[in-house]
Amino acid sequence: MRIPESLAELGKKRMGDRPVEGFVYGGGPENPALMLVGEAPGETEIYDGRPFTGRAGKELMAFLKRLDLTREDVYITSAVRSRPYRWGEKRTRDGQTVKRKYNRPPTAREILAHAPVLDYEIANVKAPVIVTLGNVGLKRLAGADRKISDCHGRLLVQPVLRLGENGQFEWTEKEYRVFPTFHPASIFYNRSLLEKIHSDLNQLQSILSGEQN
Ligand code: URA
Repeated sequence: MRIPESLAELGKKRMGDRPVEGFVYGGGPENPALMLVGEAPGETEIYDGRPFTGRAGKELMAFLKRLDLTREDVYITSAVRSRPYRWGEKRTRDGQTVKRKYNRPPTAREILAHAPVLDYEIANVKAPVIVTLGNVGLKRLAGADRKISDCHGRLLVQPVLRLGENGQFEWTEKEYRVFPTFHPASIFYNRSLLEKIHSDLNQLQSILSGEQN
């Protein structure tokens, strides 16, 4: 499934002149084994035009393999579809200082700007479970007071947040099955999270195989 072009245009327009670049479409089957909601694309994803193709993507594919799944089986998207960047300086090998863009987490305004895109996917992709990767996806869908460290590895059955007509987030009437786990990039900063992610994935596998609700 791919979102309508007009919706992508709306997302870009709502983003205005924020320091972001590119636009990566989410993608996967309309009836996927899982829906994965990340944070925002980085430099590699903007270059490739596909979500999770960089370093974090490699880890994510390893997670999927533990579930006996591949990229083709799942729908992958994120809270924000453009790459949020900040300017920084980098020393080159010959001692010069050059300006370059660095990835940064999306702001609340940027998440709000792209909300209609994710809302459309949540409403149209028929996934048995929505896996949020990290705090950004979790808070966007399950509420700002949720914390990944508290609720990872547990199935949440609840309404999710979507953009209302008044421009604020509101709860859906429908309940969704949301399974939070850590973002694959988190293990680059804290290797001990890998064990927790593996245990979350075991939990997810029993939920998917119907052993547990
Ligand atoms: N992190 C995300 O959330 N999405 C990507 O596509 C890459 C890294």
